[in-house]
Amino acid sequence: MKESRKFYFCEHCKKVISILEDPGVDTVCCGDVMKELVPHTKEAGNEKHLPVVSLSEKFFLDCEGIVHPMQELEDGKIDVVCELSTDKEAFSRPMQEITKTDLADVAAQEQKVTVDVGSVPHPMTQEHSIQWVYLQTKNGGQRKIFKPGDKPQAVFVMYDDEPVAVFSYCNLHGLWKTEL
Ligand SMILES: [Fe+2]
Repeated sequence: MKESRKFYFCEHCKKVISILEDPGVDTVCCGDVMKELVPHTKEAGNEKHLPVVSLSEKFFLDCEGIVHPMQELEDGKIDVVCELSTDKEAFSRPMQEITKTDLADVAAQEQKVTVDVGSVPHPMTQEHSIQWVYLQTKNGGQRKIFKPGDKPQAVFVMYDDEPVAVFSYCNLHGLWKTEL
């Protein structure tokens, strides 16, 4: 398991930060050391906060940049000739002659990650709402910010990467994490 992303909180101004490059020294805000926000990993209380994650099947890009589900290839539905590729050798053959391995070589695979907060949608009112969701991946991460009234759902597309964990942050109930 890759090391979990860390978030820090200022008890005075309520600032939340995460550090891109951590030399291991304390971060001071409003005159005090910022405290690490330790995420909850089990539900508690009436509202549900844990991110519920669903992963799509994998996708591939053809030479025209069009995204196809991998399933289409496996079912033999892709049978067009890709003529626009600059790599004529790879794509001058009908697509059905191009193996899955060839495609993996020429096009990075994409995967969609859908995150709902939580198993019952969390309230999204002015007073109480999910502020953001952070997807930690093997090579980095992505964040989606919400505003009151939004659906507490984030959809991320990963490019040549793997999901590791998803965090959600509630303005009243703090940080929550689902590991993948
Ligand atoms: Fe909450």
